Amino acid sequence: SIRVQEIKLRMSVPHVLIFPLPLQGPVNCMLKLAELLCLNQDIHVTFLNTEHIQQRLLNCTDVQIRFEKYPNFKFLTVPDGLPEDNPRNGDQIRKIIEGIEEVSSPLFREMVTCASTTEKPLTCLIVDGIFTFALDVAQQAGIPLLYFDTISPCGLWTYLSVPKLIEAGEIPFKGNDLDALVNSVPGMEGFMRRRDLPSFCRAPNLDSRIIQLVIKEGKHIVQAQGLIFNTFEALEGSILSQFRALCPNIYTIGPLHSQMKAKLASQCLPKTATSNSLWKEDMSCMDWLDEQPNKSVLFVSIGSLATMSKAQFFEFWYGLVNSKTRFLWVQRPGSITSLEEDDINAPRELSESTKERGCIVSWAPQEEVLAHPSIGGFLTHSGWNSTLESIAEGVPMICWPYFVDQQVNSRHIGEVWKLGLDMKDVCDRVTIERMVRELMEVRKIEFLERAKQMSNLAIASVGEGGSSYQGLDRLIEDIRLMKI
Ligand code: UDX
Repeated sequence: SIRVQEIKLRMSVPHVLIFPLPLQGPVNCMLKLAELLCLNQDIHVTFLNTEHIQQRLLNCTDVQIRFEKYPNFKFLTVPDGLPEDNPRNGDQIRKIIEGIEEVSSPLFREMVTCASTTEKPLTCLIVDGIFTFALDVAQQAGIPLLYFDTISPCGLWTYLSVPKLIEAGEIPFKGNDLDALVNSVPGMEGFMRRRDLPSFCRAPNLDSRIIQLVIKEGKHIVQAQGLIFNTFEALEGSILSQFRALCPNIYTIGPLHSQMKAKLASQCLPKTATSNSLWKEDMSCMDWLDEQPNKSVLFVSIGSLATMSKAQFFEFWYGLVNSKTRFLWVQRPGSITSLEEDDINAPRELSESTKERGCIVSWAPQEEVLAHPSIGGFLTHSGWNSTLESIAEGVPMICWPYFVDQQVNSRHIGEVWKLGLDMKDVCDRVTIERMVRELMEVRKIEFLERAKQMSNLAIASVGEGGSSYQGLDRLIEDIRLMKI
């Protein structure tokens, strides 16, 4: 009976294993979720990172110190299967996912199956939606699985609609008209054009590895015990109800960074900056922002994976300078393809105007930047984290999407939520100048008001009793109830 008691005791501890896709966006989101769970002392969290990501996090952030204050938290690492010097940008996503499937997933399986015999057996798995292998692992181990898809629900919904698009003959596209409407994404009829579908839908054939992956993902995610989304009801209510018809147990807990801020404030914990950056943040831009007038600066960043050609880079630069707007521009190392460091050779008019009105950094503390009073707009690649961070701070956007869900997000920002302008598939200095002026001057008040309204809804959702506040509460309660 002592043995039985011992087992009961061991089984009463909720223990979550979190495993993100090893990219900036997903790692950032999942670490925030991990921290939110750790604020509940009875919940134990093991965070599984790839060695590569872990090393970069340790080099660039205070993550180690930050998490040291949680005795209920621990990091574990697995190799990602790629050689150390292999780049891990947007065009490597396929390789990254293959590495995880081939090398990391067997170790994950071993970890999950062996963990039932350890001191604190795992009681719940939270993994990225693209990790289809996790469903089988969870089922075999008898541990509940929640998929956390850190991309936008509107984007994920178009992934799930890929079989319908194929069946209806809407993809691959027939003809070159990217403005033609598509009708096979339920709930998005009337405003989704071909060009607004995820970039992989432009592939000329259906055997593209990414198409096969998203079809598989769609089949798997609805079989999990639940789905976690970084969004809020007031933003994506109609898409969420489509999801609920397939998978009733949906937790909406976003914007996660706002939820994090609200929780720390309500527990009277210091509102420490929660950087999960994989690049070193250049804080000097905050001093520069302090010197700029209210709502006068356009923040320009294309996130962690997108790239632009050298020609596009110069179109951006001329467009920004010609608009006469102040700008803070993140030029991530490696984000301008085929450009050597000493190859910039900017014409004098560009470098002089930039000195007067611009600031360039290699990586910024983006959440803090967007919250700064001098920021009035955001030229973004429409990655989901960037979009939510901008929405929460009431910053209108110009969207220049690169791939995956970003095309869908930018259509929603421009056409559905009316929070900015969609510049997709265009990159010339005249258009850039025109759009910057439109956002920052001509329609400035209109956009700022609209963005403020949505920001209020975002903040309300994470405030006491709000939908995302309740979503997180329910998630925590359900994790406590999960027993193996
Ligand atoms: C990837 C996908 O490409 C995107 O479509 C998906 O929605 C999420 O994952 P990524 O390029 O990482 O996107 O963009 P995003 O989701 O916007 O995440 C970037 C993160 O890096 C944000 O949290 C942002 O705050 C941070 N960041 C970016 C910085 O901290 N500093 C910077 O200078 C730039």
